[in-house]
Amino acid sequence: MADTRPRVLSGIRPTGPLHVGHLVGALSNWAAMQDKYECFFMIADWHALTTHFEDPSRIREFALENTACLLASGVDPARSTFFRQSDLVEHAELHLLLSMMVPVPWLERVPTYKETKEQLKDRDLSSYGFLGYPVLQAADILAYKAVLVPVGEDQVAHLEVTREIVRRFNHLYGEVFPEPKPLLTPTPRLPGPDRRKMSKSYGNTIELGHDENQIRDSVKRMFTDPAKIHLGDKGHPEDCVVYAFHGAFNPAGVTEVDRTCRDGSRGCVDCKKSLLGPMWERLKPVHEARARYLQDPGRIETILAEGARKAREVAGATMKEVRRAMKLV
Ligand code: TRP
Ligand code: SF4
Repeated sequence: MADTRPRVLSGIRPTGPLHVGHLVGALSNWAAMQDKYECFFMIADWHALTTHFEDPSRIREFALENTACLLASGVDPARSTFFRQSDLVEHAELHLLLSMMVPVPWLERVPTYKETKEQLKDRDLSSYGFLGYPVLQAADILAYKAVLVPVGEDQVAHLEVTREIVRRFNHLYGEVFPEPKPLLTPTPRLPGPDRRKMSKSYGNTIELGHDENQIRDSVKRMFTDPAKIHLGDKGHPEDCVVYAFHGAFNPAGVTEVDRTCRDGSRGCVDCKKSLLGPMWERLKPVHEARARYLQDPGRIETILAEGARKAREVAGATMKEVRRAMKLV
């Protein structure tokens, strides 16, 4: 029987080990979607090359690590199709064909294009591939005719390019693709312990590979409300990293934290201690399952190969349709 659930595709770039921000943002969200939607999840290793082409040596290893994290957090290859982008040459072909009809100014005006170029000044991002990042992303989505794309706020502009590409393609060659919509990640972004955005480039990530002691150290280092110095001082949870983590890892206790922080009856040292328990309780099973998967890279490769086979059934059929629509057959 044909699957009638809405089709979803999302991806993650293997540019480093995954961290708790990925878990409470993308990964747990993906794991929860698997029954209601027909899901395709992808390790976007070609996309990693757009910023890391000068030193690609670790992308392969990060792809395995990221795959282990996905599996450990409940992304289930029996219920979802889970694959590595570079195993699907169909994405490259579709990227090339779409590139023929995409006006360069559409790509130049994507806000993340200019921003990333400014942020990563030490990297050479003047390449054709980096400009075409959203076209490759469109190919990822359209190869499966996905209608929903779970992403963070920062990806909405990329999705808009995909939608424009769909309209242009369908106008030129006939109705082939549906217009996908973003499905915004419901959880707010977790900051790093130092209050900045949690990111490898700031060296402030709390990784899924970290053990209990490393997590404890990260919690100890977390910024608290600077106006709350003594135990009895009234605090402002909205200015506190520890509070953001209570929200993500201790939902049952967070109202109480808010109240006792504001009325001054809670001290920051205790507040950090009461975070560690629920946080490690949530992270421990993921940490352990990740380690088990990583002990057997052969098994990870088998899972990815099987995922690529399932993905190819769909992407291959789409490519036949695309070639026909573009009069290439
Ligand atoms: N650009 C996405 C990110 O950085 C990763 C990605 C690649 C993606 N291809 C995709 C996300 C397709 C959604 C759909 O997070
Ligand atoms: Fe943050 Fe807790 Fe201290 Fe309030 S009591 S400032 S929430 S650590």
